[in-house]
Amino acid sequence: MEAANREVVGGPLTKTMRAAIQSAYGPAHQVIEVTEVPIPSIEPDRVLVEVAAASINALDFHYMTGTPRVARLDMGLSRPKRTIPGADIAGTVVAIGGDVTDLRVGDAVFGEVGGGGFAEYARPRASLLAPKPENVTLEEASTLGVAALTALQGLRDWGQLQNGQRVLINGGSGGVGTFAIQIAKALGAGHVTAVCSTNNVDTALSLGADRVIDYTREDFTTLDDRFDLFYDNAGSKPLGQSRRMLKDDGVLVMVTGKKGGWIRPVDRMIGGVVRSRFWSQRFVSRTARADRSDLLVLKEMVESGRVKPVIDRRFSLDEAAEALAYQSEGHARGKSVVIP
Ligand SMILES: NC(=O)c1ccc[n+]([C@@H]2O[C@H](COP(=O)([O-])OP(=O)(O)OC[C@H]3O[C@@H](n4cnc5c(N)ncnc54)[C@H](OP(=O)(O)O)[C@@H]3O)[C@@H](O)[C@H]2O)c1
Repeated sequence: MEAANREVVGGPLTKTMRAAIQSAYGPAHQVIEVTEVPIPSIEPDRVLVEVAAASINALDFHYMTGTPRVARLDMGLSRPKRTIPGADIAGTVVAIGGDVTDLRVGDAVFGEVGGGGFAEYARPRASLLAPKPENVTLEEASTLGVAALTALQGLRDWGQLQNGQRVLINGGSGGVGTFAIQIAKALGAGHVTAVCSTNNVDTALSLGADRVIDYTREDFTTLDDRFDLFYDNAGSKPLGQSRRMLKDDGVLVMVTGKKGGWIRPVDRMIGGVVRSRFWSQRFVSRTARADRSDLLVLKEMVESGRVKPVIDRRFSLDEAAEALAYQSEGHARGKSVVIP
């Protein structure tokens, strides 16, 4: 049958599902409610996935609070356009749209849904899914989304990490950081220094960091070391101090800014990129892009044993607000997941 003529194949037996719904911007316990809603229909390029787990990202906090406020131009001015949190999922395909030719009902997949993950069913584009790595659970696979892509693209593409280079990772024990340590090593970094707090030092070492700086006891900007690549996942130091950690031809990759309501989270990132035009070092600030070919790179890294997802906490769907509140504290150890 011609793909263009095919209709949705498969589908769940029920018409409704449970989902965490966000109707306004604000603190998790005020704006998140778990309720019954219709199972979404799928366009021809999408599939319906029965969600086994959805991982939680800092992104969900920004969508929940509507911060930085400047981002409401995109997220929705007075109320969120995206009503179900959750950008990363893993689960089983239960229905496929008419144009989808490379997935089948029953496939175990992981990938990007861009919102809608905290529910029993989600409707990702087929092109943003990949087969689950053989050697991990669906829960673990659900962590291989935004955070892992940010680490991969930040180190490989924006930072252009080369074999043998010395890498500094500030914020080495959270969702992005636990992937960044392992991916830096997988990409050939010669030496990785990770920065995190006391409780997470052992985790960072176990993931392959050659040296860990506990920021509660030591200021990493006082180190004599200079780095080829500084992957800044915490934004905790002024730009001038951050720059001093780089070799003359070093690169600073900034994936975050300072916490703040209006524009602060992005002003450091934009300011850094502008100011670096006058310096020998390169400053880069980007957001990760959803990309199946990179999901396949992550799958290969996991299957070859070079990257292992770190799961911090598991929450039920009824605990969705608690899960988002926990993430917003900014001290997760690896990734936390919501299990519908
Ligand atoms: N550009 C992008 O596309 C992109 C994508 C994803 C995330 N992000 C941003 O990246 C940041 C991290 O995301 P995430 O998912 O990894 O968050 P997370 O899971 O909450 O982790 C935050 C990390 O920051 C560390 N940290 C907190 N205060 C610190 C300090 N003063 N110095 C050094 N490290 C500190 C924490 O370690 P301790 O617990 O040990 O303190 C933890 O490892 C967020 O700001 C997020 O918005 C950007």
